[in-house]
Amino acid sequence: MQEAKLKELLDSLTWTEKVGQLVQLSGDFFHSAELAVGPKKKLGITQETIDVVGSVLNVTGAETTRNIQEKYLKNSHHKIPLLFMADIIYGYRTIFPIPLGLGATWNPELIEEAYGVIARESRSAGAHVTYAPMVDLVRDARWGRCLESTGEDPQLNADFAKAMVLGLQQEQGEMFEGIASCVKHFAAYGAGEAGREYNTVDMSERRLRQDYLSGYKAAVDAGAKLVMTSFNTYDGMPATGNEFLLKEILRDEWGFDGVIISDYAAVQELIAHGVAKDEREATLLAMKATNDIDMKTGCYANELEPLVKAGAIDPELVDEAVWRVLKLKNDLGLFEDPYRGSTVEQEQRTLLTEENRSLARKVTQESLVLLQNKNDLLPLKPNEDKILLVGPYGDEQDLIGLWAVHGKSSDVVSIRAALEKELSKENVAFEKGCDLLADYQFLGEFGATKEQIHSLGMTAEEKEIALNKALAAGKKADIIIYAMGEHTMQSGEAGSRTDISLPTIQKEFMEQMITLGKKNILISISGRPLTLTKEVEQMDAIIQAWFPGTEGGNALVDILFGKVNPSGRLSMGFPENVGQLPMSYNEFKTGRPLNSSTHRGRFVTKYLDSPNAPLFPFGFGLSYGKVEYSELILSTKQMTDELTVSLRLKNISDYTCLETVQLYIQDVTGSVVRPVKELKKYQKVSLLPNEEKLVEFSLQRSDLYYYMKDMQFGTEAGEFIVFVGKNANDTQQAEFELM
Ligand code: GLC
Repeated sequence: MQEAKLKELLDSLTWTEKVGQLVQLSGDFFHSAELAVGPKKKLGITQETIDVVGSVLNVTGAETTRNIQEKYLKNSHHKIPLLFMADIIYGYRTIFPIPLGLGATWNPELIEEAYGVIARESRSAGAHVTYAPMVDLVRDARWGRCLESTGEDPQLNADFAKAMVLGLQQEQGEMFEGIASCVKHFAAYGAGEAGREYNTVDMSERRLRQDYLSGYKAAVDAGAKLVMTSFNTYDGMPATGNEFLLKEILRDEWGFDGVIISDYAAVQELIAHGVAKDEREATLLAMKATNDIDMKTGCYANELEPLVKAGAIDPELVDEAVWRVLKLKNDLGLFEDPYRGSTVEQEQRTLLTEENRSLARKVTQESLVLLQNKNDLLPLKPNEDKILLVGPYGDEQDLIGLWAVHGKSSDVVSIRAALEKELSKENVAFEKGCDLLADYQFLGEFGATKEQIHSLGMTAEEKEIALNKALAAGKKADIIIYAMGEHTMQSGEAGSRTDISLPTIQKEFMEQMITLGKKNILISISGRPLTLTKEVEQMDAIIQAWFPGTEGGNALVDILFGKVNPSGRLSMGFPENVGQLPMSYNEFKTGRPLNSSTHRGRFVTKYLDSPNAPLFPFGFGLSYGKVEYSELILSTKQMTDELTVSLRLKNISDYTCLETVQLYIQDVTGSVVRPVKELKKYQKVSLLPNEEKLVEFSLQRSDLYYYMKDMQFGTEAGEFIVFVGKNANDTQQAEFELM
């Protein structure tokens, strides 16, 4: 629709119709009348509002969305189509690895391709907007939502944020073939104190800008059409009412003119935060901060019009918000086609195709991180050894993680199924051996019934039998593969935990099994870094598999048998123990570093009972091959605008290697304290057996910019160190001077 006509439409709306565009309700308000009574009563909104509401939360499926849209439009005076928004975080029906696994690919180009698949599947299923990517930087593995993040580094998060938005939106000039991306959660949600969900975030503006905003900025610069506010406070004000974040930074500084939507009920939660005494004040705060859509509360529906009538809110503010929503619908072409081509036939043709599966398999292969491989136990040779697969994830199809809301575990290839496809019958056996958890009661909080919970665990007798069967089978095996990990519901939203080791029941089972003296391989399924400190001693090999998605089993078998050489590198370090958290490789320098030249022994920055170093550092991952790095060559020792750092890589193995070469810098002396290392560049280099390649990095002056003492974004002349290597703790270095 021409924007002039769109403006006429806006001007023709009643206040109820305008406010309706700023309200988002869940599907139960549209599926059936009796269901709506409960939520409607709870939210205290009228049917009149429901009839003019602007968008729907988490309803997908071509048939369902078409039915709701048709019914809604038939009843709509101005024929303004509904927006269908959903949580499609790392897959719609073809589920890719969780984003913490996608981050481990260090391959934004591949992930952009994957998000193109997600866009096509989602669009065919009637979704117009996805609440993705989640780009919250995270340095505390206690937080359950590590799962959705690409990790702890500002540069890597920014690169993946851009790739995901471009993949989702598929924009070419005027063409907008994908679905709208709603980047979240703005801002700094991953820095909740003590790693506790929904907790306070309090940090300096410098740290916010230097580290935490990079992902959102990259997403906005890539054209994300929406931004979602976060539950947390920043500097004493919850994000949803925070004018500094939403207006000053997002809209004024970054020029974002898209839609801002609150997180679920976050407008009303301003009351619980204690910055609004009632829904009227909450509405006032959120609207003045230019939050456009109120997700799933009655605040805007009940309070906006009275506030305007009372002169407490400038009607222009409301019109601007409604304009942004109407413009989004127009950009999506909804006025011309409210279904955007979504039909049941189109959906069936698009979902879970063999092509989508094979891309998912490739992405999962690159997401898997080989953490340990004593005596080069891996890769295995098919049918050379008798293999026993044990553990609660061995024959489990629930490998898709908490936010695969629209995926189906029944689509997933389990590890057992993949192994039995790869090996002859006599060379592979499976015994579950133990439950995933000893106690499933916590699932009651997520709606599981008592009967469901009761059916999950084995009885004491069944446990005894399962263990004995596993021990007996283990005696006959040469190699035991342990498929272990945390429960899906132990990570993701509301999944913060203070003990992030493997569940005790699994550790006890492993203690029993390792007495058999066999070769042991651990596959760790988790939505966060786990403290695998004991398992490092017990196991010969360890593969970090995250929640690997629909093709999880196949990709794991590809790695186990060397069909693919593991290339994953951690995008978030694994702690030695939970007491070290929060932690990150790019921590600031201190006055008493471990290697202090002026202080000895006790009086340096360290713990009495733990190393400072992580169990596995940022950027870490092993390969079956071996790649040698030559000395670094700098194009100059006095850098003005540009510096080229080059080196030669030589693959001295018989494997094709995908080697992620990482370049970090240290600004030795700044006008404020600077990190010990900062990732600036990386390249994922493919090397055939015995192949040698020259790798060059071009470092620009602007790559060295940071928020200086006066908060200006720039840099100062002085000494720098450049580090190049395989991970944050395994680098070679060279010095240069910035003139
Ligand atoms: C949730 C999450 C957010 C999600 C939204 C809609 O509480 O915080 O990530 O997109 O609600 O489901």
